[in-house]
Amino acid sequence: MGRVLAQTERMKSNEFEFTDKDFKFVQWFLHKNVGIYLSDRKRTMVYGRVSRQIRRLGLQRFAEYREVIERDDEERISFINCLTTNKTQFFREYHHFEFMEKVMMKEWKSQGLKSLRIWSAGCSTGEEPYSFISSLYHCGAFQWFDEIGIVASDLDTNVLNTAKDGVYSEEALDSIPNGYLKPCFVKGRGDRQGQIKVSGTLQKFIDFRQINLLDEWPFENEFDIISCRNVMIYFDKQTQEKLLSRFYQQLKPNGILFIGHSESVGACAPMFRHLGHTIYVKQ
Ligand SMILES: C[S@@+](CC[C@H](N)C(=O)[O-])C[C@H]1O[C@@H](n2cnc3c(N)ncnc32)[C@H](O)[C@@H]1O
Repeated sequence: MGRVLAQTERMKSNEFEFTDKDFKFVQWFLHKNVGIYLSDRKRTMVYGRVSRQIRRLGLQRFAEYREVIERDDEERISFINCLTTNKTQFFREYHHFEFMEKVMMKEWKSQGLKSLRIWSAGCSTGEEPYSFISSLYHCGAFQWFDEIGIVASDLDTNVLNTAKDGVYSEEALDSIPNGYLKPCFVKGRGDRQGQIKVSGTLQKFIDFRQINLLDEWPFENEFDIISCRNVMIYFDKQTQEKLLSRFYQQLKPNGILFIGHSESVGACAPMFRHLGHTIYVKQ
């Protein structure tokens, strides 16, 4: 049985020609266009994901696919989409939401702040921005602020479509803490059995946009919070530092930056004061 499986795997990995040069091209292309660094260890993953693209187009080798992505904008987007890692969940790294509700809410009230702007940069399928809006609802922010706006952006157009729909499998309930569920989510019935949907009232506060973090940003105003979590981990040091300096510029004075659990501000530490686990304030 083991031999048959190994043979099937070998056949699968030989289905399309994918040379060292092809893999180097993928590494270069992704780094240049979206800042993502793919180590040599990612070769099998890349082959698996790119194979699906090649098969869909009825091609024989990666070199042919490369020609397609060089001339076809839509296929180029699809190629990038297939290589991004979109893992996320509701209320991931809960301490950020707790900090916003318990510490920032008090601070904003004492400052008399009446308009709040948050950017979820690299929002994937939307669980992160929906967690922010639910958290704001939960802590009474809607009674205090006159204006609340969340910009949620990602490079990947597929995940953004899911995010805009705001419909998730009921399994997502496992990561939504008690107290947030009833007012913020609606359980599906009939055709929608087994699904949950974000309440339409809360959804209205989120503006989903396609933004490549490496490109110019379309913002005129600064943000009170920028959340860029589990995104920079895929970038090299230089790209991370450039991005952090730009986040600094894009934050209001005393604005808050949330990053992912395995990320750090590295050489940009002088720009940000550390407030707690992966929480920083603009200096
Ligand atoms: C692992 S998900 C993180 C989602 C969410 N922030 C969280 O922590 O749960 C990383 C997201 O970053 C996005 N991403 C990667 N490179 C990007 C870039 N250059 N510009 C914008 N988004 C990017 C990916 O498409 C993916 O959806």
